Formats: sequence, structure tokens, C-alpha cells
Amino acid sequence: MASQSISAILEHIASAGKAYENNEPGSKEALIDQSRALIASLEIPSEFLQRTFWAEPALSAIIRLAVDVKLFQYLEDAGEAGICANVLSEKTGVDVVLLQRLARHLVAMYIISFHHGTFHATPLSNSLARENYQHSISFCYDAARPSFNGFPSFFQRTQYKSPPLGSLSGPFQEAHKSQLPFFEWLVATPPHLQYFDSFMSVYRAGKPNWFDPGFYPVTERLIDGFDASKQGVLLVDVGGGKGHDVAAFVAQHTCSQQQQQQQHLPGRVVLQDREPVIASVMAAAKANELPFEAQAHDFFTPQPIKGARAYLLHSILHDWSDEDGIKILENLVPALQRDYSRVLLNEIVVSEEKPTLAVTSMDLMMLAHFAVRERTEAEWKGILEKAGLRIVNIYTYPGVAESLIEAELA
Ligand SMILES: C[S@@+](CC[C@H](N)C(=O)[O-])C[C@H]1O[C@@H](n2cnc3c(N)ncnc32)[C@H](O)[C@@H]1O
Repeated sequence: MASQSISAILEHIASAGKAYENNEPGSKEALIDQSRALIASLEIPSEFLQRTFWAEPALSAIIRLAVDVKLFQYLEDAGEAGICANVLSEKTGVDVVLLQRLARHLVAMYIISFHHGTFHATPLSNSLARENYQHSISFCYDAARPSFNGFPSFFQRTQYKSPPLGSLSGPFQEAHKSQLPFFEWLVATPPHLQYFDSFMSVYRAGKPNWFDPGFYPVTERLIDGFDASKQGVLLVDVGGGKGHDVAAFVAQHTCSQQQQQQQHLPGRVVLQDREPVIASVMAAAKANELPFEAQAHDFFTPQPIKGARAYLLHSILHDWSDEDGIKILENLVPALQRDYSRVLLNEIVVSEEKPTLAVTSMDLMMLAHFAVRERTEAEWKGILEKAGLRIVNIYTYPGVAESLIEAELA
């Protein structure tokens, strides 16, 4: 991408602003992107250094500390009246001078506000006070950030070679002095599994889901032609984590069916994940309250649910090398019914021309934690072909990093 002049960026911001006022999909992301371009064009190097190496590391460190002392919760509890530094200091246990310095940086970075002598919550800080986001902050700071911090020395040691795909001696293992693969490390070092599952449940919250209107046509591609005989399965979410995707899918489709005077989804919806994840899902909800079925299943073993209408793998294959990805798909293939079952990969498809921050930062997360990479369309095609599948179509939505790749038996 060629760099733009400041006036060109301002013009883009103006037109993205109009699109935003008209609620056009992708306009918010375009505004944020152009605002970043504006900062990059305006900042002189000293300002760039100050923001990148002081302000932003200090911000994330303060936010991590805020989790421990419940800073955002106390600000939320204070409501519109706000809270003065002395009271906030008493509640958090942070001495008042230190508290003021930390909170001032949060004000300068627009995370909270200060007026009439009191600190105030913002919609953002109130969201960060929720348990899922508190866990996500801990995961990002404690588990992910050390892997990035170690990049320079790690790659100096490897003489700037990419680690072999799926390597068990990547930046993550070096940072955490472990030889375990990422997912095994999460289980072995509580509470990281819980924090990671929370992170997965919110890191794309607020973005359209693959099943939302205008993205993947669920009625046309899944519900029409669904075989409801023998209590058929409509959707299996393979490696679905805590079930946030299936819960939202069921909520949305049960609701739209009710408008048509029907009470239920046309078929069963099943969440699958590793045993400890399913155990925590079951423990968190009384089993009969779950809006979907839950089943422990290792996706490196044959898929036990045969002939479902669709098998969803959301952000699964990107965690694995090509070889392992092909193994996961090969374990799914025997369960597929020809001309009926669909495989849905909800994954990033990397564009060489216009990589977005959402795509490049996820690609670097993959490099840091799994020594793997996000894939281009040609790479997806290659993996699917090797497992005996073919791409039917790729669906995208403006401003959403992940596409929906629909595949079927070749
Ligand atoms: C990146 S998360 C994706 C979770 C969810 N699909 C989403 O997009 O939010 C990867 C998921 O794969 C699960 N997983 C890892 N290894 C697995 C295995 N061998 N069998 C089944 N699930 C596994 C993890 O527990 C985790 O929930």
C-alpha cells in the first residue's frame, strides 16, 4: 500500500464518516483505519517513540493492574457522580499519589475521564469491568505479551528463520520456559485455560457473526434442504470453546423461526471441544439450561456425529500446521454425507493486496503461540484438496477479518 498525503487521508475520513452516519457495514473499521493512517502521517519520530514504547506499554500494564485492584468496577459503581482520588485509593488499596498517576494516564489515553474533580467511567471502561474482559486482559498480558516481547532475541537465535510450522520450540515456549504445546500449557497452568476461553468468547464480540444477515445465507444453504428425519443434526461446532457461537446461532435462529410461528430450530445443534472445556461449560450451566448439546470430542479422532448438515470449524485450522490441519479434516471427512453435508471454515483469508491490522495481528499471534500462519485462498484450497474437499464459495462481510469458507466432498 502506497502512503497517502494528509489531505487524501482527511478526505477518506470525511467519506467514511458519512458512511458511518448511514450505518454502512465496514464504515467504522474504515474510520479507525484512516485515523491510524492520520496518526502515522502526523507523528514525528519522537512522538512515535513516546506513544509506542512508553504510552502503550504503560497503558496495558496499568489496565492489567486495574484488574487486580478492581479499578474499573469501582468507577462503574460510582456512576455519573464519579469518584475522587482519595475514595478510589481507599477502595483499591493503591496509594493516592500512585493512583492519581496511573489514572491520569488512563484519562490521557481516553479509557476513563476526569472532570469536576472526580474520575469517571466510560462505556469502554465499563465493558472492561465485565468478567470475560477482565479474564481476556489477564490472558493477553500474562500469556500472550511475553511471547511478543521475546521476538527479537528468539529470531536472532534462529538467524531470522521462521520456526518450522507447528514447532514446539517457538516464541511462546521460549517465553514461558515450557515445552508444552499452547493448549496443553493452558490446561497445565490454571487459570490460563479459563482466561483463554473467556478471551475466545469476547475477542470478536460486537462484530457480525458468520450467520448474521448479509454474511452467510443460513436459510438458503443450511435450513433449506435440511433432512429433519431421524432427529438430524443441523450444526456441529467442532472445537467451539465455551459455545458462544452456537449459543448466538441458536438464539438468532430460534427467534426468526418464532416469527414464523415455529418454536424451535429445525435440527439439533452440538458443541464439541476437549473434555476439560466441555466439563467447564457443563459446570457453568445446569445441563438442561444449555440451548445446545455438548459433547467432548478430540478432533484428531474420527468425528462421531455422522451426516450432519454442517460442521463448523471456527478459528481451528489456523492453530495448526498444514499437516495437522489435514489430519483434522481427514477425521471429519468420513462423517460427511455427499451432496448434503457442508464444512464451514470461519477463518481469515489473507489478502496480499490489502492486509488489515486485524489480519496481520492475528497472523503474528499465530506465529508467537503456535508457530503457524494465517493462510491465503490458494493455501486453503491446497489443504482442503489434500483432505478430499473442495471450496464451494467464500463469503465475506465488510470490516470482518474472518471469512466463511464453505466446502464439501470433492
Ligand atoms: C482458537 S480456539 C477457537 C474456539 C471457537 N471455535 C471460537 O472460534 O471462538 C480453538 C479451540 O480448539 C479447541 N481444541 C484444541 N485442541 C483440540 C482437540 N484436539 N480437540 C477438540 N478441540 C480442541 C480448544 O479447546 C479451543 O476451544
